[in-house]
Amino acid sequence: MSDDPSPLAFPDDFVWGTATAAHQIEGGNWNNDWWRFEHTPGSGTREPSGDACDSWNRWEADADIVSDLGLGSYRFSIEWSRIEPEDGLWSTASLDHYARQCDGLRERGIDPVVTFHHFTTPRWLADRGGWESDEAVERFATFCQRAGAHLGPDRVSRACTINEPNIVALIGWGIGAFPPGKADTGLAGEVGDRFAVAHRRAVEALREALPGVPVGLTLSMAEWTAVGDTDDEREAAQGRIERNRHLMEDRFLAATEGDDFIGVQTYSRSRWGPGGLLGPEEGVASLAMGYEYWPQALETTIRRAWDRTGGAMPVVVTENGIGTDDDAQRISFVRAALEGVWRCLDDGIDVAGYTYWSLLDNFEWAFGYGPRFGLIDVDRSTFDRNPKPSARWYGEVARANALPPT
Ligand code: GCO
Repeated sequence: MSDDPSPLAFPDDFVWGTATAAHQIEGGNWNNDWWRFEHTPGSGTREPSGDACDSWNRWEADADIVSDLGLGSYRFSIEWSRIEPEDGLWSTASLDHYARQCDGLRERGIDPVVTFHHFTTPRWLADRGGWESDEAVERFATFCQRAGAHLGPDRVSRACTINEPNIVALIGWGIGAFPPGKADTGLAGEVGDRFAVAHRRAVEALREALPGVPVGLTLSMAEWTAVGDTDDEREAAQGRIERNRHLMEDRFLAATEGDDFIGVQTYSRSRWGPGGLLGPEEGVASLAMGYEYWPQALETTIRRAWDRTGGAMPVVVTENGIGTDDDAQRISFVRAALEGVWRCLDDGIDVAGYTYWSLLDNFEWAFGYGPRFGLIDVDRSTFDRNPKPSARWYGEVARANALPPT
């Protein structure tokens, strides 16, 4: 008998992928609320998105990289403000662009996973109150219907409705670091409820437009930890967790009933004391995003998503990753996260795939081009793409469909 640990094998149909979002990589998306926010003095955004990674023009180079790495899926978003640049004006050219992108991925053997709303809203709709108005729900459903029907079920492998509605509501309306830059907890609560309704309407619209294509929500989740010196303190901290987790996770998980999958997106944990949210624990590394290096959060959140949805639908890890300049730390992070995914599978949880965020170093919203989540380094002046060692490592894991022993 050998002492060598064996590789952790993943199921044959497990899908390895990577992800991006239109506004973070395409460049020149001037017609949405985010661009305007980036150019609003005092918004707090570190720098504007500008040309981003020029992926609007270079999507084929991106698809080649995904294919060279041996990955099976590519999750990207289609930009509403390009497709419906004015109220009711539809751009066939933009829809054709995304149709070609899906075709190009398929030709390379990659499953296109399409997100219909990833943080950005067209200016014309934002000007009319955006997600503060029920109109947004109807307009988004119409967008899903039109864009979905144009792409069609043969092009799309999986459809994601709204990316992290919990984060958009909290940071846009509760904290003010995303557009529209408001800090009103009550309003953030309302917007979150509206997103839950919008998700359900979008599922209906996408099912009609894309028959047979799995449709689901992609939700930001965290490991929630109660901290206190005494039982009473821990209980008080737990009470805070329950209230906040309801707003951030549970009301959205409840809105996924009847969906085809639940997309889990996890980066770290959230520590709470009796007096409120705490920062990173002493002795735990903290990252460029301000939160802790905590790869084990992925396992916790997969288990929670599975429990809360009653095992009714597969879990897809639609985002997990780390913003760091230390690429070896990226490999350690993904390895640890994947060990957790493997344990979930071993316990019979249906995890259908893992998606590393992100393919490219890209525009990290309010943080600008600071935190580097990419497997690929992008030269900001030439747009040259250079795979990092983590890209090769992740590609080998995907090809082997197994995590090698350390
Ligand atoms: C999100 C988004 C991505 C981010 C990523 C890293 O989770 O905020 O889906 O657009 O870039 O999460 O922070």
